[in-house]
Amino acid sequence: MVTAKPEVELTVSRIVAGGAGMAELDGRKVFVPLTAPGERVRARLVLSKRDYAVARLQEVLEPSPHRRAPRCPLFGRCGGCQFQHLVPDEQLRVKREMVADALRRIGRLDLPVAPVLPAPDEWHYRNKTQYAVGIDRGPRVGFFVTGTHRIVPAEPCFLHPARFDAARRACADWLCGAAAQAYREHDHTGNLRHLALRTDGRRTIALVATRTRRISVELVERLAATPGVDAIVQNVNPEPGNRIFGPETRPILGEPGLEYELAGRRLRVSPTAFFQVNTAQAETIVALVRERLGDRRWTRIADLYCGVGAFALAVSDLAEQVTGVESSPVAVADARRNAELAGAGNAEFTEGDAAFLPADIGPADAVILDPPRKGVSRELIATLGAARPDRIVYVSCDPATLARDLALLGKTGYRAGDVQPVDMFPQTAQSSP
Ligand SMILES: C[S@@+](CC[C@H](N)C(=O)[O-])C[C@H]1O[C@@H](n2cnc3c(N)ncnc32)[C@H](O)[C@@H]1O
Repeated sequence: MVTAKPEVELTVSRIVAGGAGMAELDGRKVFVPLTAPGERVRARLVLSKRDYAVARLQEVLEPSPHRRAPRCPLFGRCGGCQFQHLVPDEQLRVKREMVADALRRIGRLDLPVAPVLPAPDEWHYRNKTQYAVGIDRGPRVGFFVTGTHRIVPAEPCFLHPARFDAARRACADWLCGAAAQAYREHDHTGNLRHLALRTDGRRTIALVATRTRRISVELVERLAATPGVDAIVQNVNPEPGNRIFGPETRPILGEPGLEYELAGRRLRVSPTAFFQVNTAQAETIVALVRERLGDRRWTRIADLYCGVGAFALAVSDLAEQVTGVESSPVAVADARRNAELAGAGNAEFTEGDAAFLPADIGPADAVILDPPRKGVSRELIATLGAARPDRIVYVSCDPATLARDLALLGKTGYRAGDVQPVDMFPQTAQSSP
């Protein structure tokens, strides 16, 4: 006999990391996605643990005044967006609270958190999209359904440029007649793993990620015939697992690079190198980094986790020397070329692990940190504690690891200043691409 999961009535107090609303039931926390602070809801418990539970929203009994109708028909199913049901100002308020909460709870830090700087565009702001490819009752090209590896063919998507939709459709149409080519995660067979699309606003490249070096001529022809696709690049990832890109990237058709303009400088970006996904907000962050370095003239600024050199080059006029450290050889090659393009003779870039700064690049009096989500390594915290640069500007894509790292830096003697959140991803609870 199947017993129905119990329904409960809850009052949502706030939104937590990940985007779900939080309520209390008999002293236990209950997380209910797609709700808003202050709302009274009816929800069905779908997971029940000793100290918390997860519930699925059934009905909003007393809606928040900040609730609105989501734009996308797949909202709530597709894992891409969590906040389309909240008006923009409420999204910003919630995000500020999420940052302050992480700082307090994880870092035990009561820091001033400024209001979140909104993105100029609420929709269609992404310059990059990655579609998963797989079999889900037939071949599919799309986004993962929330919390699963099932694939929903999300189209149109309101977060990326409209022209990406046509390239997804071309790939999906081809896959309908070539189902055997769809990657199957469970036994690591099939060839096509992902389709990534990137644009610099002028040109768009389709990055076809495959398991082997083979690539279907018909797929290439279909993508090439899609309006708005300027180049096709293949990336080969023979390893099982969730990593999207492997070590080998090769051009298939057209000129593979992208070129962004940031802080008045041209930045060349290779197909698999990191670049901020919200181009407009990248400008905002660069301006903040410059502001935080202030008017002082620095001897050496170290830009750790520097990618293609976006920050290093944007601040190269503030120091005698700027040195970027980055682990991706492709990004380092881009950064060196970008320094040449910018005529920044005082900028150098080292390939390696950012943890080993003084040993590899010499002392710096200012350091910019922009690590991936997992934050800064313990080794680098210790290195910074010993090297004692006068100022550290920390750009973070995860409030939880930021809070942890600020607390650890605090133990080495640094005092955290204020925190300025920037909304990189409207409609989502995500803080990294
Ligand atoms: C969030 S991105 C920041 C890139 C750059 N600051 C920007 O805004 O364009 C993080 C970068 O760190 C690099 N990375 C990851 N682990 C690293 C490590 N241990 N040492 C150096 N770089 C690393 C990644 O390849 C990526 O380019």
